[in-house]
Amino acid sequence: MTMATKVVIGAQWGDEGKGKIIDILAQRAEVVVRSQGGNNAGHTVEADGVEYKLHLTPSGILNPNTLCIIGNGVVVDPGVLLDELDMLRAQGVSTDNLRIDLRAHLILPYHIVLDGLMEAARGAGDIGTTKKGIGPAYMDKAERIGIRMCDLLDADVFAARVKENVALKNKLITAVYGGEAVDADAIIAEYLGYAERLRPYAADTTVLLYEAIQAGKEVLFEGAQGTLLDLDLGTYPYVTSSHPISGGVCVGTGIGPTLIDECIGVVKAYTTRVGKGPFPTELFDELGDKIRNVGNEFGATTGRPRRCGWFDAVIVRYGVRTSGLTGIALNKLDTLSGLGTLKICTGYKKGDEILTEFPASLTELAQCEPVYEEIAGWDEDITGAKTYDELPEAVRAYIARIEELVGCRVCMVGVGPNRTQNIER
Ligand code: GDP
Ligand code: IMO
Ligand code: MG
Repeated sequence: MTMATKVVIGAQWGDEGKGKIIDILAQRAEVVVRSQGGNNAGHTVEADGVEYKLHLTPSGILNPNTLCIIGNGVVVDPGVLLDELDMLRAQGVSTDNLRIDLRAHLILPYHIVLDGLMEAARGAGDIGTTKKGIGPAYMDKAERIGIRMCDLLDADVFAARVKENVALKNKLITAVYGGEAVDADAIIAEYLGYAERLRPYAADTTVLLYEAIQAGKEVLFEGAQGTLLDLDLGTYPYVTSSHPISGGVCVGTGIGPTLIDECIGVVKAYTTRVGKGPFPTELFDELGDKIRNVGNEFGATTGRPRRCGWFDAVIVRYGVRTSGLTGIALNKLDTLSGLGTLKICTGYKKGDEILTEFPASLTELAQCEPVYEEIAGWDEDITGAKTYDELPEAVRAYIARIEELVGCRVCMVGVGPNRTQNIER
């Protein structure tokens, strides 16, 4: 059997290095597809000394032969997407191979306004969203009042739908949240300008994708966010409003589960999270600061410092199970060099009990203390390692212990941010 379709997801709280892995795999893939999320994502790709931070464009875009698809499950902010395409072209990257699905929902200015107002209204209980309008756009989709790419391409339909929605949203914005009303005519004029520029990219990508798979082409599905940010399986309510687990790929691109061959989980050699919510292995001391500085753990989308902590095997095992992972790409092992003895969380202590499965209830999670085992660290600079055997014994032992605890094989090892700093096993 050929392994033609591969899903790549984040198995922690996002920012695991999915962009880098997709860029590397895309050098062999013919199609790269995003299936969920929007420009809350920030995927860093470092190639030939240039760093690209992509928010909406699939990370296969640097390969001129790869068809890049923004699937139906993505929420698209057209102004942000056009700016990103301009930025890429200015850097000499062709964007001709991009297609956007006609069924993809749009982010409109009132979604962004509401994201900010709703966060402010939550007060101390805020989620720490990226304020890009993601939650409110998915709310409209579920409420069945969303506006889609196919609507944008029909000026009359678009204008009518914006007017209906703005009438409704302005009541919410002003009367409920005390914000400032938005102007429907200004939105229509702005977005119809985008429509003409986006028209050449619009397509029924569910057909393109199905045909590519039928033709035996190599297809990569690029996850955004991560397992614990999944609307159903994450640390609800501190989650995003889409489905970053592998199952999200099917609804977000219009293919059936029988068409997926492999699922790779991208994982950091430690744990980070941006935004609020529980984080059992979080480090509040200088060690946490050190990991943040050495690992350059600052959000690619909002610039916020990321919270840092030890590797949590309970979380990654949960990711292996809920996405049916067939392999792990373990990034940022280089960041752990010189930290002394390392710790791995193997379970949670709750009263007299030891939990080995990630709990559903955040109240329960808050009562959990991580159970750690210590493992020898290493001091060597591993950023130049090219083969698995070149890695110091202690690094290989750390990887082997992770494999044992999470029940999945590590098939790729990241030793630096560049596309060349990756070891395949
Ligand atoms: P994504 O959202 O999953 O694509 O990840 P981000 O791009 O938000 O964050 C990952 C960060 O780690 C980026 O700055 C990458 O350049 C960087 N990175 C990825 N893999 C490695 C690695 O193996 N070592 C180091 N030092 N940095 C890495
Ligand atoms: P990538 O694809 C890390 C987090 C936000 C917040 C929560 C909800 O780069 O891994 P939202 O704006 O989505 O409503 O915010 O989700 N979040 C991410 N954290 N990486 C991401 O994407 C994220 N996208 C959203 O910080 O806690
Ligand atoms: Mg990111």
